[in-house]
Amino acid sequence: MIKTLPPLANRMDRILPFHAMELVKQADTLESQGRSVIKMSIGEPDFTAPPAVVEALIQAAQAGKTGYTQALGLRPLREAIARYYKTAYGVDVSPERVVITNGASGALTLAACALINAGDKVLLSDPTYPCNRQYINAFDGVPTLIPVGPDTRFQLTAELIAANWTEEVKGTLIASPANPTGTSIAFEELGKIIETVRAKGGFTIVDEIYLGLTYDGEARSALEYGDDIIVTNSFSKFFNMTGWRLGWLIVPPAFVSTFEKLAQHLFICPSALAQHAALACFSPGSMAIYRQRKDEFKARRDFIVPALKALGFGVPVEPDGAFYVYLDCSAFSTDSTHFAHHMLQEIGVAMTPGLDFGAAAPERYLRLSYATHLDKLRDAVERMRVWLPTQAIG
Ligand SMILES: Cc1ncc(COP(=O)(O)O)c(C=O)c1O
Repeated sequence: MIKTLPPLANRMDRILPFHAMELVKQADTLESQGRSVIKMSIGEPDFTAPPAVVEALIQAAQAGKTGYTQALGLRPLREAIARYYKTAYGVDVSPERVVITNGASGALTLAACALINAGDKVLLSDPTYPCNRQYINAFDGVPTLIPVGPDTRFQLTAELIAANWTEEVKGTLIASPANPTGTSIAFEELGKIIETVRAKGGFTIVDEIYLGLTYDGEARSALEYGDDIIVTNSFSKFFNMTGWRLGWLIVPPAFVSTFEKLAQHLFICPSALAQHAALACFSPGSMAIYRQRKDEFKARRDFIVPALKALGFGVPVEPDGAFYVYLDCSAFSTDSTHFAHHMLQEIGVAMTPGLDFGAAAPERYLRLSYATHLDKLRDAVERMRVWLPTQAIG
């Protein structure tokens, strides 16, 4: 037997474990033992693609539309996405700037590869979506976390970006609405952020994967602020198609050919079948279904936030989008990771501890995903109503 393996790349040491996956495994084990588990730990809509999208997939498969497509994606889909920016957000985007990818994950990988040199720092909020740090690490960049709190709705501000900008910083990656907090950056502040980064000669990537799930106020795309901004989005969340692995980027016109050659080499193309099917997302029938589902998410948020507060959790910032609540469990525990595991074992309620999202007080917070049916959310609240008083500190 071979005893020694070749060394892994040094950067592997910087790729952190995904702690939440442990909790997911535990929840699955409990379920396989016959326990009832309410999973509010997963950032995945409980809806599937609308019937027209499934039908389009079947038709494309039957017609043998299964070969490689152009690396930038099918022209009709790029056009449909460009039209969607006009109808949904009132922004003119030329189809040439639309790059179809393997989910927002593929989009962020391409953006990181195109923009980051070894040693470049990229500013992120803390808390942030865990994978953001790893896209940067993967290209030997340095993810630079800036602690943010309720005072800025857990988001970066222009002032924070200016204060943390150094010679090594090359740009920022922000999300609005964000994971894990469900909070958006006020549109005016977003403009100031973009202006600040622009003045430094840096890049701004805005992850708008949850923009379609904006519940309060008008959803506005960062693209309104100019065509030098890189925007990422996906069919995973608003369009309820997580496993189809389809997303997109809008890039500055002068970057298209660079993104094209990168996409050709790294991915050849996004899934052909998923692309053919996604064309049906934009039909009036599918859009009506999506709007109805968005209302359902909003109703869940309007139920769960006051219910959590009544249970004694802190909700320091009201979430206005996505399907997450970032809640403070310090009335019950000084260690949210232990608390999350304990709650899962005792009452079968799964939430994600703050640990994966950053280093700024993660022990205080849990992320709840309300991408699960209202009846299950009610059940979880009932379970917690009985159990939490036995956990209260002091
Ligand atoms: C903020 C954010 N960005 C990107 C992604 C990646 O999504 P996908 O690759 O499924 O499009 C996620 C998934 O949870 C996310 O929450």
